[in-house]
Parts: sequence; structure tokens; C-alpha cells
Amino acid sequence: MIAQVDAVEEILGEFSGAHRDQLIPILQAVQDRCGYLSREAMIRVGRHLQLPVSKIYGVATFYNQFRFQPVGRYHCQVCRGTACHVKGSAGVLDAMRQQLKIEPGQTTRDGMFSLEVVACIGACGLAPVISVSGEFHAAQTPESARRLVARYAKEATTHASA
Ligand code: FES
Repeated sequence: MIAQVDAVEEILGEFSGAHRDQLIPILQAVQDRCGYLSREAMIRVGRHLQLPVSKIYGVATFYNQFRFQPVGRYHCQVCRGTACHVKGSAGVLDAMRQQLKIEPGQTTRDGMFSLEVVACIGACGLAPVISVSGEFHAAQTPESARRLVARYAKEATTHASA
């Protein structure tokens, strides 16, 4: 936690004299450096910009690029760009939500999976695409997405018991 607080203070130092219109770039910088927006980070950003935490949280939740929990061991990114959308990524996302029992931006309680919706990840020829911790999985369907989650869950259990 100390390291994260230091990172946030360092970022705020880089944005000294910033105004409220700098909120989004500051939050992006915090997330890039820390991986997510902790409550403590939002409090510090709020103090810096003289904004209440509720306002910062409200703005951040409006954009689905922000996370409020650390990413899981398997970070699942479902592409919702146009090519993926046309080929059924909404159904793929629904299947992932149901299988993992979390919403985009959340991490499972055991810290194993996190789910995120992203814009085009540059692999439109493989649409609809899911990236799991940087590994691309092409031409997904709701069924294949469920199998993918089950496969990673099994892999995690195998590693845990090895
Ligand atoms: S729209 Fe999904 S990879 Fe481009």
C-alpha cells in the first residue's frame, strides 16, 4: 500500500497546479502505474483537485476503462470494438459475466479472474476476440468463452496443487 501511495503522490507531483479538467489524465496515470484505482488513491486525487471522492468515483465509473480492484491472475479482456460487436461479442461478454459471476471492472473474490471490456485490440480479423493476460483467443462464441474460463480455472487448480 505504501508503494501505491508513493506512486500516487509522485503522479500528483507531475500534475502540480492541475485543474479539474485534468481529472481523467490523472486517473489514467494512476491506473497505469498502480493497476487500478484504490479508494486511498481517489481520496488523494480528490484532495489535490479539491473534489469530493464521490465526484471522482462518479466520473471514473462513467468510463469503463477504470478498475477499482487489482486485476486477477487471469485478466480477461473482451473486445467490444465494431468488428467484434458485429460478430457477436455481446453474447461472449454475457457468457463471461455469468461464468465468472462478476461485472466488467471487477475481480473474482479469490483473485483468480478479472473482467474488462475494451475497445478494438487490433486483431479484428480474429473477431470476436478475448485476451486473457495478453494471450489472444480468436472467433469466440458464448460456449467457447465458457470453456476457456473453465480451462483457466482448471489450470489454476492444477498449479495450486502441484
Ligand atoms: S474490433 Fe475487436 S479486435 Fe478490432
